[in-house]
Amino acid sequence: MNEAAEGIDLTAAVPKVDAVEMSRASLENHWLPFTDNKTFKEDPRLLVKGDGVYLWNQHGERLLDGSSGLFTTAAGHCRPEIAAAVAEQLGLLDYAPSFLRSHPRSFEVANALSKILPDPINHVFFCNSGSESVDTAMKMALQYHVSRGEGQRNIFVSRDRAYHGVNLGGTSLSGMAMNRQAFGATIPGVVHMRSTWDEQQCFSQGQPLHRGAELADDLYRAVQTYGADRIAACFIEPIAGSTGVLVPPVGYLERLREISSEHGILLVFDEVITGFGRTGEAFAAQAFDVLPDIITMAKALTNGAQPMGAVAVRDSLYETVMAASPDDVVEFAHGYTFSAHPAACAAALATLDIYAKEKLFERARAMSDYFLEAFFSLQNLPVVADIRGYGMLAGLDVAVDGAPGVRGHRLQKRLFDAGLHVKATGDAVIIAPPLIAEKDQIDEMCEILREVLKTV
Ligand SMILES: Cc1ncc(COP(=O)(O)O)c(C=O)c1O
Repeated sequence: MNEAAEGIDLTAAVPKVDAVEMSRASLENHWLPFTDNKTFKEDPRLLVKGDGVYLWNQHGERLLDGSSGLFTTAAGHCRPEIAAAVAEQLGLLDYAPSFLRSHPRSFEVANALSKILPDPINHVFFCNSGSESVDTAMKMALQYHVSRGEGQRNIFVSRDRAYHGVNLGGTSLSGMAMNRQAFGATIPGVVHMRSTWDEQQCFSQGQPLHRGAELADDLYRAVQTYGADRIAACFIEPIAGSTGVLVPPVGYLERLREISSEHGILLVFDEVITGFGRTGEAFAAQAFDVLPDIITMAKALTNGAQPMGAVAVRDSLYETVMAASPDDVVEFAHGYTFSAHPAACAAALATLDIYAKEKLFERARAMSDYFLEAFFSLQNLPVVADIRGYGMLAGLDVAVDGAPGVRGHRLQKRLFDAGLHVKATGDAVIIAPPLIAEKDQIDEMCEILREVLKTV
């Protein structure tokens, strides 16, 4: 532990786990995101403490964290090294303006990221969330093409069942109906390829074997329909995460790369979930050995301890934008008040240090077979409609009961009450244990799932 960690009583801030009472009235003013507010407030599921792979609810009951928070907490909850680094930073420099000013830590994080990113992706722009990273990447793509004299390229290609956050750009890329329906047409010029899932792939462990190149040819169809010189970028999650873990079939990402390169289209990997060891490599780009032009990231960048997102780009993209702009002029008119916030940078540096020292990406790779075998052992339960998985990420669908999403919603509530927190989307639950999870903790997650699946 460093000097700062020694000087701070990190337990002092931990709430008493058995004494958090909140009246119904005290819950009213907070409008919760992606939550059924009215029912939640009648029966709230609050978290008051975290430690390693465990969380505690307001009644003092311990839960296993089956989704690393929201795919954030890869190194486990409440790492003292991260808390100490943030506290130390806040005591030294709590804020630095991010326009025309910066601070040393922001460069350190960019340098540290460039060491684990695939070459030649070495230039990093900071923001505060995955959603901001996606909208930033869209604007970068547009500006890159303007810089090359191809400003007519303003169409984006995305995919059914995609999730790229909730800002207007990301919502427009989204392929999840519920996330778009209330918001009308969103931004124009986004076309969607098919999702990679089909029934033939049910219960594929790892990459499905069929139809990879054929599905990727949807990008080629977009080229034929709109013209090769109109498409700015193709955005995909290498593994579609929030929709329930759709692993790309063999050959799919390779073919997308081929078509993009042939037609001057930027290929963007949204690695907000898949980044930082989830696939057994730093990034899915390395796990699948396909090099995009831009990588977006957030979540586990700070182990969830501070909000932070980032966009990493190929050197040639950065250099093109720089070269197109006269000296003494802002090259990219984009950024956030909290871009590269000092506390977020401190958290990111401490997090990246833990990942390296504890070899957590290698650990994820070594644990993946055990993890996937354990979860695929649930496939014979009658209510289970499909299981998919890669690395330390798995999705399990339950059969629709009446209307889509009803059984999934019931399932995630009952899992929580039985001691397992997981992210659920519709009828899918998504399992992504902290990369520090031990085999017996994975077994316990599976056992809770097995028992609760019998009741829904
Ligand atoms: C692939 C992907 N992109 C973007 C986002 C949005 O990130 P945030 O919620 O930090 O804005 C998410 C969140 O789950 C995601 O999974």
